[in-house]
Parts: sequence; structure tokens; C-alpha cells
Amino acid sequence: MPKNEVVISKENELEDFKIDLKPQIPQFPEVEISKLNIKYPLIPPYAFAHIFWDYQNKELVYFIEEPGLNPEERRILDILEDGIKELINISFLAVKDGDTVIKYLEKNLRVLIKELKIQITNDNYQKVMYYIYRDFVGLGKIEPFLCDYFIEDIECNGVNFPIYIIHRKYRNLRTNIVYDNSDKLATFVERLAQKCGHYISYATPLLDGALPDGSRVNATFTEDITSRGPSFTIRKFSQKPWPPSKLMQMNTISPGMLAYLWMLIEYEANIMIIGGTASGKTTLLNGLAYFIPPQARVVSIEDTRELNLQHSNWLPSVAREGVGLTNLVGQKYGDVSLFDLLKESFRQRPDYVIVGEVRGKEAYVLFQGMASGHPSFGTMHANSVDTMLRRLETPPINLSPSLVEILDVVVVMTQTKIKGVEVRRVTEIDEIISVKEGQGAQFHIPFTWNPITDKFSFNNQSYVFNKFNLHQGISQEELFKELEIRTKLLINLYKYGIFDYLEFRNIINEYYKDPMAILKRFNVK
Ligand SMILES: Nc1ncnc2c1ncn2[C@@H]1O[C@H](COP(=O)(O)OP(=O)(O)OP(=O)(O)O)[C@@H](O)[C@H]1O
Ligand SMILES: [Mg+2]
Repeated sequence: MPKNEVVISKENELEDFKIDLKPQIPQFPEVEISKLNIKYPLIPPYAFAHIFWDYQNKELVYFIEEPGLNPEERRILDILEDGIKELINISFLAVKDGDTVIKYLEKNLRVLIKELKIQITNDNYQKVMYYIYRDFVGLGKIEPFLCDYFIEDIECNGVNFPIYIIHRKYRNLRTNIVYDNSDKLATFVERLAQKCGHYISYATPLLDGALPDGSRVNATFTEDITSRGPSFTIRKFSQKPWPPSKLMQMNTISPGMLAYLWMLIEYEANIMIIGGTASGKTTLLNGLAYFIPPQARVVSIEDTRELNLQHSNWLPSVAREGVGLTNLVGQKYGDVSLFDLLKESFRQRPDYVIVGEVRGKEAYVLFQGMASGHPSFGTMHANSVDTMLRRLETPPINLSPSLVEILDVVVVMTQTKIKGVEVRRVTEIDEIISVKEGQGAQFHIPFTWNPITDKFSFNNQSYVFNKFNLHQGISQEELFKELEIRTKLLINLYKYGIFDYLEFRNIINEYYKDPMAILKRFNVK
């Protein structure tokens, strides 16, 4: 009798394995680094991030906390892992639609448990199932890192060296994850290559690829290239955010419009980007975020993660849907809506608030926030300013005209065809002068786009500049002069081919500190 066939199966008593694939985004406390001690879920209820101050080494560290396994559980896990390799179709796992994959894995695991007559309590089963999920569906011990919204880079410099991560808030952190066996690390790097659709070997020891979710992967395989054995770096960000120069290159927006919006952002105006589906609103919103002053605290709120800001003090959050049945007010247990997030975010004293897409009652919180002096940007699905205003003023949003008036400008976008080619264009920028009950709104339109010539024009007047003049004491002359300088700078950045997003960001950040140096460097006279 094989040694596993010891006791009667209890597989019918095992509950379904459940994990939360969209854990809540944590809020980080504002405390001294040496007092920091926070824990947040990565793959709840099993894996957590624990960031704390290591007194001995005097540094901030990032530990992954997972359930421990006793020798018996480990033995069962090894048996089941071996068995599952035989039983399942690994390529099916690559489809990676969370719940489907878990169901598939579980079904097979239960078959194995029954066949091998393994006795396992429900608690042990859940733990073992977590590791099987982590190792087969995920990327093994680094999978929790991949689930951390705040991690940008994962770096493994070889065997017996702790993995380092780059955290969006706390930057470089040492972790408690180590590959202590050269063969295992090599196997892992091979698997990473496979996931990228590449092959890595002693003959082709360098890998530069992308995981299915778009994360970039670099890896080395032999010991002579990196003397510490195989190594890898995963850059988690999938989409490279388009800098404004890229939008100029596509002729989506003119340098003048960008310079104008840049100034509006600096002087803390409220901006809404509107347009039809896929007209490029979110892309433009992300592009405009490059103009936020580098030291500002930025909070962003989205339904699905799309924004990718190049800002060191950026706190992103994503709404999530709860589980189970909806209650009487249409919520599920664990729901975190845009409304909740937005309310919470204003408590964090943001300098700028970005809402990915304004749709429902969160608009009220957003406009309240604007009214209390938090410059905000967002996108809204509407084809014209009139439609947008109507949507804001009628149920379910129901804002009062005086609250809507807090919006300074509306950028209108469209997706259209020019000579048979699909393009995105900013068709106009509208400045809101007033919104009155029953009388509609009054606008000024400084920038327009001509669909026949595909050119943009500016009428050399700005109502918003007037406001800056009144409220911030900057003269119109100075404002227009600055507009001209920034327009020239943007044209030259384009001419000099500054399309790399980090380079672009650094230039804007430097401009905030030392404008003359940047103007000189890019030959703006
Ligand atoms: N200026 C542009 N030129 C060409 N393609 C663009 C431009 N902006 C965005 N796109 C492409 O168009 C698609 C939709 O862009 P984006 O998500 O920004 O639009 P959206 O208006 O926010 O869409 P939605 O209505 O879904 O929110 C993306 O695939 C993006 O790469
Ligand atoms: Mg969008």
C-alpha cells in the first residue's frame, strides 16, 4: 500500500477555497519612518504585506506574511503539488481568470485528495490550497508582490540575496523573500521566461520580455554573467503613460492648449475632460498629470486601475465590489465605492484630486472638494458641455448650479476619422463663466479645433486668466507671457524628441525649480 493511503478521505467536508483578488488599497499613516509598522492585505486572507522599521539594521523593511505550514502540512503539499502537475493542463491556468482557475484547480485537487485518500482538515486544506494557487496560478513566492498595487519593481540579484522591491510610497525596501537554492531560482527564471513566451537557456542567457499583464521582465540565466547566479527584475507597471509630447505628436492637442492647461494646473484650476467612449479622455488626463508640481500630494480615485502617475507623492486608490448578495440599498458586503474613497481622500489633505471617471453620486463629494479649495481633475462621458451640465444637474447627481460653477474649464475630446485614419482630437476648451438656475451656462471658448484643416486656434483671451489675475494678483501680461514661453518650450521638447515619459517628467519637475535652466537647455528665447 502506498504510504499516502492511510485514512479515509474527508473531501466532502472541505469548504470552497476563497481569496479576495481585489484587496482594499491601504491608506498609509503619516508617521516618522522609524515608527512605521503597517500591515495590509495582498492575497487575503492568506498573504499580507508588513512594512516596519528594522531596529537592528536601521532600515525600513517589507515582509510578506503567509500562513506557516507544519511538517505534516508541508508533506501533504508536496504530494499534492506533484500530483497536480500530472493532472492539470497548465496552459489552462495561463488564461488566468481568477475564479475560473481556482474552481478548476480545486476540482482537480479534490479528485487527488480522494484518490490518494489523504486525510486533511478543512483548515489545512485551505492553507495548502493557498500555496497551490500561489505556485501554479501565480508566480510562486513572489506572487504576493505582484498583487501589491504599490510595488513598482521587484529585483532579485541572485541566490541567497534578499529580493528588493521599489514601493511607490516607501521606495527601496529589503524583503524577507530569498531564493536559497540556485536550481530553484534557475527553474523559476525559466518559468518566468515561459510566461513571457520566451526561452532562456545557457545558450541564450538574457531575457527581455513582458508578462501577459504587460509587466516588463529582465532576467539573466548563467553564473558567469551575474556571478551571483540567475537574476531577474520585474517592472510591474504595464502601460507606459503617454507624456504630453506624445499627445502633441499624435496631433491630439496643440502645444498652446497644453501650455494653457499646464498653467491652469499650476494655479489650481478645476478641469473636466469630456468626450465619447474611447475618445482618449483617460489618456489625456494621465498626460496632464505630468504638469502637477512635483512636491504636491496627489490622490487619485478610480473604478479600475488605469492611471499611472509619475509622481513620488501619489496615493492611488481603486474602488472594489463586495461579495455576496446586495442589500436593500444596492450594496454588497465589502463594497468600497468611489463615493467612499473620495470622502476618505479629502481627509488626507491632498493638493490635487484626480477622479478617473465621474459617473454618480461621487460627483457631489468631488464638487464639494473643489469648492473647499482642492483642485480636481476628472473625466466624464458626455459629448458636449451642455450634456455634461445636464448630467451634473439632474438625478442621480443633482448638483446645484452654483456648485457646478466651481468647474473652471471643460476639455472636449472626440474620436473621428481624418483621411480614413482614426484619430483623437481635443475639439475645444471651454471656460465656464457662470451657471444659473434655469438659464443654462455661459462660456468662453479660448481654444478650438478645425476639422477641415485639422488645426487648432487660440483667440488670445482667457476668462480663467482673469480669475487668476483677480484672486492671485498675477497680471494678465505676465500670464500671457508665461503662456507663450511654455508653448515654445513644449514645441522644443517635441522637436528635441522628448517622448520618454521619465525624461519628460524630469524636465517639467526641473522647470518648477529652475525655469531659466530648462529654457536655456532647450533653446527657448
Ligand atoms: N491621443 C490619442 N491618439 C491615439 N490613440 C489614443 C489617444 N488617446 C488614447 N488613445 C487610445 O484610445 C484608447 C482609449 O483611450 P482612453 O482609455 O484614454 O479613452 P477614454 O475616453 O478614457 O475611454 P473610456 O470611454 O473607455 O473611458 C486606448 O487604447 C488608447 O491607447
Ligand atoms: Mg476613460
